[in-house]
Amino acid sequence: MIELTKTGIDGLDEILNGGIVKDSTTLVSGNPGAGKSILGLQYIYNGVDMFDEKGIYLSFEENQEDLREAAESIGLDKWPEYVERGDILVYDKRELLGEHDFSSSLDMLLEDFKDSEYERLVLDSLAMFNLFFDDERERRTYLLKFSDILKENGLTTLMTNEQGAVFPKSEIGLENYLTDGNIYLLQTPTDSGVKRYVWVAKMRKQDIETDIFPMEISWGGITVHDNASEFSMMNHGDSPLE
Ligand SMILES: Nc1ncnc2c1ncn2[C@@H]1O[C@H](COP(=O)(O)OP(=O)(O)O)[C@@H](O)[C@H]1O
Ligand SMILES: [Mg+2]
Repeated sequence: MIELTKTGIDGLDEILNGGIVKDSTTLVSGNPGAGKSILGLQYIYNGVDMFDEKGIYLSFEENQEDLREAAESIGLDKWPEYVERGDILVYDKRELLGEHDFSSSLDMLLEDFKDSEYERLVLDSLAMFNLFFDDERERRTYLLKFSDILKENGLTTLMTNEQGAVFPKSEIGLENYLTDGNIYLLQTPTDSGVKRYVWVAKMRKQDIETDIFPMEISWGGITVHDNASEFSMMNHGDSPLE
């Protein structure tokens, strides 16, 4: 039996066929504003709120206050309380990029993860994480080491990635091979506002719904609708993937 970790996000667990495989690492990709950080915040918040699972949020982009405000802006109003209680552990950019050099910050983090009581982790974002390595080999080594340690310590992880196109013109990065799953968040402007979609492209060991589903961001966060969208990826000009 494969154990699953539920996101608790309306509609998302259904298309994931129950949830994310426990101890796996899933990449959440999309353009700026697509909803990656919100998905991460909800995943961690719902863990505590609905499933009694503690979570760690690593943000290379925002500080504690930004995260709290983002959480509160979608109605995750117990965020500060959960952080206060230690049910949510936040490492913000000030801590991660603070006094120490980046690799010693990472070593410290990895030490903290060992035998931890936490079960969920979000790394927001991989793009920023990558920026701190000028050496490709060092970056790869760290990414591998990082993934291994997360897995060994029972952390089911989402890593956000600023990657717009589903089929990037550039070389497909190591992160796509390293991760067990791939979720894309897409957005397309229309006359009546932005339309948002989610596509679960890959989920190792899981039989998933691979259609593209419409989603919304509003008070309460992300909601995924189960009516697979009206266009197909291949034969319409208005595909959000283009
Ligand atoms: N309460 C809300 N109601 C509707 N949309 C919201 C709300 N809060 C944030 N958003 C939308 O969510 C988007 C930001 O999502 P975010 O997760 O920060 O994006 P990303 O991390 O992918 O760059 C913004 O485009 C914003 O319009
Ligand atoms: Mg973000």
